[in-house]
Amino acid sequence: MSRLADLIAQKPEITTVAVTDGQFGDTGKGKIVDELASGWAQFVVRANGGANAGHTIWVMGRKVVLHLIPAGILHPDVVNIIGTGVAFDPRAFSAELKALAEFGVPSTPLVSHCAKLVLPQHILMDRLREAGADGTLGTTGRGIGPCYTDHVGRCGLTVNDLSNPDELARKLRANLAEKMPFLREQDPEKIKAILGQEELGSGELFTPKPDSCFLDVDAIIAQYRQFENQITVANTDEIVRTARDEGARILLEGAQGLMLDLKHGRYPYVTCSDCTVDGLARGAGLSGEDVDLPLTIFKAPYMTCVGMGSFPTEIEDEVLAEEIRKRGNEYGATTGRPRRVGWFDLPLARYAHHCCKRRKPVVSHAIFTKLDVLTGFELIKICFEYEYEGPNYNVAGRWIRTGERLQTAIPDEFVLSQCQPIYKYFPGWKTSFSSAKTRKGLPWRLEEIIDVIAHESGFMPLAASVGPERDQTAILNELCI
Ligand code: IMP
Repeated sequence: MSRLADLIAQKPEITTVAVTDGQFGDTGKGKIVDELASGWAQFVVRANGGANAGHTIWVMGRKVVLHLIPAGILHPDVVNIIGTGVAFDPRAFSAELKALAEFGVPSTPLVSHCAKLVLPQHILMDRLREAGADGTLGTTGRGIGPCYTDHVGRCGLTVNDLSNPDELARKLRANLAEKMPFLREQDPEKIKAILGQEELGSGELFTPKPDSCFLDVDAIIAQYRQFENQITVANTDEIVRTARDEGARILLEGAQGLMLDLKHGRYPYVTCSDCTVDGLARGAGLSGEDVDLPLTIFKAPYMTCVGMGSFPTEIEDEVLAEEIRKRGNEYGATTGRPRRVGWFDLPLARYAHHCCKRRKPVVSHAIFTKLDVLTGFELIKICFEYEYEGPNYNVAGRWIRTGERLQTAIPDEFVLSQCQPIYKYFPGWKTSFSSAKTRKGLPWRLEEIIDVIAHESGFMPLAASVGPERDQTAILNELCI
C-alpha cells in the first residue's frame, strides 16, 4: 500500500475521493491517482474530458502516458471505468490499450454506454478552427469542444450507438448534415490533409464529394465498428452507484484543471468539460455530496499552462522559463507542446479555494507536486496579489479601477490579461529531498514556502510529491475531517 493510500485508509468513513486540479492542468494528478489505486481505491473512474488529457506515471524508471484510460489501470485488482462525462474517442482508446499491452498491462476499463462519442468530424472541425483566421484557443486538437458542443446541441452520439449499426448510421448522417454549412465552406485540400493523418485513418475517411462534407460515412462506420469488440460497454453509472451503496472505495479521477473549467475557468480559453468536484461526481454517476474527500492538486512553487489565454505569473525571462521547463520536463504529454511556465499564483489559489471549499469536510486538502524541480534555485518568487493596470472595467456590477490591488483572481479574461503580479521573494533551498517521507525530510526553506502558500490560500497541505516515481510522496499532515 502506498503511503498516501495508507493515510486515507486510516479514515474508513471516507469511501469516495475526488482528485481535481486547482490550476491549468498538468499538475500530476495521474501520479496521485496511481498511488491511491495502490492499496486504497477499488474503483477508479475517469469522469471528464477526453483524450486531451495526458497523465504521466513513472514506474521503476519506465514512463506510462495515459490520455483516456484511468490511471488505476496499472493495478489489476482495481475496476477502472471511463464514465458518462467523458468524450470518448475509440481510436485513441484502441491505441492506448495497445501501448498498455506492450507495457505488460492486459486490463481494459469498462466504458459508459452514455460516454460522448468523439467523431472524425469533431477532430476535423477542432483542427480547422485552430488553423483558421478567427484566432486560436490553442486546443489539443482532439475534437473535445465539438464533441461536447454536439452533446449540448442534442445531435451527439454516444458509445451505445456503436452497438446499434442502423442507429449509428442514421445519427452519423444527421450529425454530418448539421456540420454541412461549416465543412462545405472549408478548403477540401485542408480537410484532405487533416484526414490524411495516420491517427484519423491515413485518408480512408476522405471523399472529394462536397455534399457529404468530404467525409465518407460508410468509411467512418467501418472504421468505428472495428473498435467495437475492444470496448467493454456497461451501464457504469449504475455500477458506480451500487458500489457506493455497498461501501466500496471509489476514486474519481479529474482531467484538466479549475482554470480550464467551462464554467469557472478563464473563458473562452477553457476546455469544454466540468473539471470541478461536482462535475467529476456527475460524470461518474454520483452527486457532489457523495464525495467524502476532495483532493486539490497544485504544482508548486512554479506552475504551468498550455494553450492561449492569460497567465498572469508567466515568466518572461525565456532563459529561466526554459531552465524550469527542462528540469520539470514541461512538455505537453498529449501534444508535445512546450508548456508556459510561471511562478506560483496565490490569487488563483485563493480563487480555487473559494470554488472548492465545502461544508464537509470543512478543511480543503491540497497536494503539492513537482516540489523537487526548483532545488538549487537561489530565489523563489510567489505572487501574493495582482495590480490591475487596465481601464476601468465593470464585473458583476462592480468597477475595477486602474491601480486596484486584487487578492483573489477574477476569472475574467479581460481582467486577468491586465493584471500585473506583485511578488514576494523567498530564498531557495539547496539540499535534495527525493526520499522524504514526512514533513521532516523537507528542507526548512521549502517547508516555509509550503506553509506560506497554505496559510495564504486556505488549503491544508496533506502531501507533497518529491519526485516522479511511485511513492515519492511525503505526508505533511493528518487528514482533517
Ligand atoms: P481542448 O480541451 O483540447 O479543447 O483545449 C482547450 C484548452 O485546454 C487549451 O488551452 C488546451 O491546451 C487546454 N487543455 C486541454 N487538456 C489539457 C490538459 O490535459 N492539460 C493542460 N491543458 C489542457
